[in-house]
Amino acid sequence: MDIIKLIRSIPIFGDLDEDEIKKIGEIGINRRYTKNGIVFLEEEEGAALFIITSGKVKVVRTDDEGREVILSILGEGDFFGEMAILDGLPRSATVVSIDQSELFMIHRRDFLHLIEKSPQVAVSLLRELTRRLRKSDEQIKSLSLKDAVGRVANVILQLADDSGKIKKGQVVIPDFPLQQDLANMAGTSRETISRTIHQFIREGLLEQRGNTIVITNFEKFKSTYS
Ligand code: CMP
Repeated sequence: MDIIKLIRSIPIFGDLDEDEIKKIGEIGINRRYTKNGIVFLEEEEGAALFIITSGKVKVVRTDDEGREVILSILGEGDFFGEMAILDGLPRSATVVSIDQSELFMIHRRDFLHLIEKSPQVAVSLLRELTRRLRKSDEQIKSLSLKDAVGRVANVILQLADDSGKIKKGQVVIPDFPLQQDLANMAGTSRETISRTIHQFIREGLLEQRGNTIVITNFEKFKSTYS
């Protein structure tokens, strides 16, 4: 794979010139993870930033009984691991590879150097962190104010926002997560996820094609549930 092309396609590096992109290619290391492979654990010391070049990861927090809350699912072009690098505190969450994935790893010192030298990278990073904060605010509202059906709908809207493709008023969400992962995002049970999705399908709001979900009328779904 052409590493230069790949780095240019990563949103936080998109505005950099050829030389700067080449430099990033030289300082980063490619790593492969198998399905369910742990990238790092909550509370570990943070030594690097990771950028997803293929596959998907989930960002999770677990309680003492091993129950999992999924904070986010990240895909190609997304980065993670910036928090411990920026504030020097331990990792705020565990990150697990959902499928087989490839990650581009940049050592802490090199990444800090990069943001000191490139205001474009710093601004892109801030823009993405702001987007995540808005999303987390939405999640807090959903988890604290909505009933189970509303929370499931909110997770579907989140996935549409992250990885959906709009076509003629419909939104197609490929690689829809497993029901247990959806449950861990919505703070509900797998059974409730199954029941609610079937209810949405019966009402004509969703269609399922293999592991692709289609929101049949995105505007209507959004105005009903957000
Ligand atoms: P860090 O704390 O170094 O390690 C865990 C990473 O998960 C964290 O950096 C962020 O990159 C990522 N992360 C934590 N919380 C969220 C969230 N709410 N949404 C998206 N990513 C997150």
